[in-house]
Amino acid sequence: MLQRLKALFGKASAKPTSPALDPEAIPKHIAIIMDGNGRWAKNRGLPRMAGHHSGMKTVKRITMAADRLGVKYLTLYAFSTENWKRPKAEVEFLMKLPQEFLSIELKELIENNVQVRMMGHKGDLPDHTLKAVEEAIAQTANNDGLVLNFALNYGSRKEMIEAVRDIGQAVSEGKLSPADIDESTMEAHLLSAGIPDPDLLIRTSGELRLSNFMLWQLAYSEMWFTDVYWPEFTEEHFYEAVREYQRRGRRYGGL
Ligand code: IPE
Ligand code: IPE
Ligand code: MG
Repeated sequence: MLQRLKALFGKASAKPTSPALDPEAIPKHIAIIMDGNGRWAKNRGLPRMAGHHSGMKTVKRITMAADRLGVKYLTLYAFSTENWKRPKAEVEFLMKLPQEFLSIELKELIENNVQVRMMGHKGDLPDHTLKAVEEAIAQTANNDGLVLNFALNYGSRKEMIEAVRDIGQAVSEGKLSPADIDESTMEAHLLSAGIPDPDLLIRTSGELRLSNFMLWQLAYSEMWFTDVYWPEFTEEHFYEAVREYQRRGRRYGGL
């Protein structure tokens, strides 16, 4: 019967939009450490690049799922300041993915009112990578739906050092008094300025570490880890993370 209904009404087979989650308690900002592309590929006897390529499809899948859920900010850790240590061929491949992803998906992102942003150190990125990302940022700047924030060449320690340097500069120029430095000063100088702290952090692939990701911003985030490799991370896994998030009691040090 269900099959027949699905056949009759194409839409019935569309992905679920309200998967038994409390719509009043959807995390406003979800950050994801997308990990396990290489191991996923290795397990299949494929080159690591095939894993990264497949992971790109997951980016699309989870972006759309986050959008449907009503998440406001989705930050995806795509390349860390430490990932330059990888073999040149892999780095070059990874630096081509933003272009490829955006050339395929930007149209649909725009149709869905998604705003693309980037959080990372732009200076070291190849021109072609930066150009593709900046074009997407410009084309989606006026969209006010989901903010899709790519952490690209992002490193939390570098981010904090640069913030401290900028603050120090303002102090030395007499524009800021050291006594006036508070959390909001720091936040305004981080690459995430203007974006609220993540409510939920997800890391795939079974690794239980932060790998230099948003060390300041994750101070009070809920964390959810799964052994699933990023290429096989589905909407259901994503909903499960949100479901678990909704079961947690956030106390921020209070009672
Ligand atoms: C995550 O997958 C993608 C990036 C870090 C760019 P990995 O490439 O780290 O995959 P594993 O951890 O080697 O399996
Ligand atoms: C973290 O994954 C970086 C990204 C997902 C982009 P890594 O695979 O680089 O982290 P480590 O090396 O296992 O800590
Ligand atoms: Mg990894």
